[in-house]
Amino acid sequence: MRLDRYLAERLGITRSDSRKLITKGQVMVNGVLCKKADTQLDENAAQVTAAGRSLGGYQKYVYLMLNKPEGVVSASRDRRDTTVTDLVREDFPRRQLFPAGRLDKTSTGFVLLTDDGGLAHDLLAPGRHVPKRYLVTLDTPLTERMRAGFAAGVTLADGTQLAPAGVEAVDPRDPCRVRVELRQGVYHQIKRMFGVYDAGVNALHREAIGPVELDPALAPGEWRELSGEEVSALKEATGKI
Ligand code: URA
Repeated sequence: MRLDRYLAERLGITRSDSRKLITKGQVMVNGVLCKKADTQLDENAAQVTAAGRSLGGYQKYVYLMLNKPEGVVSASRDRRDTTVTDLVREDFPRRQLFPAGRLDKTSTGFVLLTDDGGLAHDLLAPGRHVPKRYLVTLDTPLTERMRAGFAAGVTLADGTQLAPAGVEAVDPRDPCRVRVELRQGVYHQIKRMFGVYDAGVNALHREAIGPVELDPALAPGEWRELSGEEVSALKEATGKI
């Protein structure tokens, strides 16, 4: 990636404004003043500073962990509602970020935002079985029938036969709070699975995608970039590396 293009994309400015920054001597690459707009940045290696502000390293792809708040929709754009990408757009104005997997508007928790279409595809591909873990509050206690049904594979009201899934009580003193693990992604899957047992879902929070847990330091609406180890762990979970 050329330096002038990187600056334009990262800062949301025009290419000619980014060249002006460079020729005015306001840009450093790896701690060294750089006045050449056509400098090639090393993927994951170059650290860029513009007008004293560190922009981090150049990355081919961006991977963000967002704690989705209730009421925000899992889409790139929406005419009525705030979307998960709206929450990060200011920091990545030129990146075409999208959610790799959706949560309902009323659900909360871990949404992975990225522009790496290959990884998103692999994480969502039905054959790859990357597990996702949810904390769910039911309006009725978990029963043995539900547990056995989930383990065998629930048949939804419309006849869809689902793969086996895990469900367990989080705390024996509160049988309405359960942890669910899914290895597929069907629209409103958890709500529809409990619906088969006439149980309603009062709250649903995604805690983990594959081996990566939602960072407990992130308040609803907050996000951070995934670490290199987390990105590698996700790629490993898809079986691609
Ligand atoms: N299952 C649901 O019903 N809703 C979600 O948001 C995620 C899984």
